[in-house]
Amino acid sequence: MSDTSLDIALTVNGERVNERVEARKTLVDFLRDDLVLTGSHVGCEHGVCGTCTVRVNGEIVRGCLMLAVQCDGAVVETIEGLSDNGEAADLQAAFVARNALQCGYCTPGMIVAAQDLLNRAKDSGNVPSREAIRAHLSGNYCRCTGYQAIVDAIESVAQARAGAQ
Ligand code: FES
Ligand code: FES
Repeated sequence: MSDTSLDIALTVNGERVNERVEARKTLVDFLRDDLVLTGSHVGCEHGVCGTCTVRVNGEIVRGCLMLAVQCDGAVVETIEGLSDNGEAADLQAAFVARNALQCGYCTPGMIVAAQDLLNRAKDSGNVPSREAIRAHLSGNYCRCTGYQAIVDAIESVAQARAGAQ
């Protein structure tokens, strides 16, 4: 197999990054292996489980389905970024308060996906229903099956954020 590597320049969690990467390396492997941002997890590696969810140019993507080289020039945000800037602090606190994590493997992807839903809800002026929360998270699997508590946590933050507007 040929070893083709390319230079890429992107922004990750607000910092400029210049790296040489193998053309076939996935975004999530690049984040974890090259940048040591290990909050994004690897599960199914074929776009089903959602544990690798990150934001690229403001849209959530599967980090296992995107190549790092496709992110040349992009703005990438991971759970570390959403944690450090406080964007997801209330979601993280609600997950703890509602016991919405057991092993925690799915949690980073759940939080990134939930934050995407709540951002969309804010833009539209709606408070997402439990059904809407379940639908938005339908691509994020929790192998510990803690879905009820996860929806409880997200619903509580949705209502709190709506009340604070
Ligand atoms: S590891 Fe990417 S969707 Fe499962
Ligand atoms: S808390 Fe274990 S996979 Fe969700």
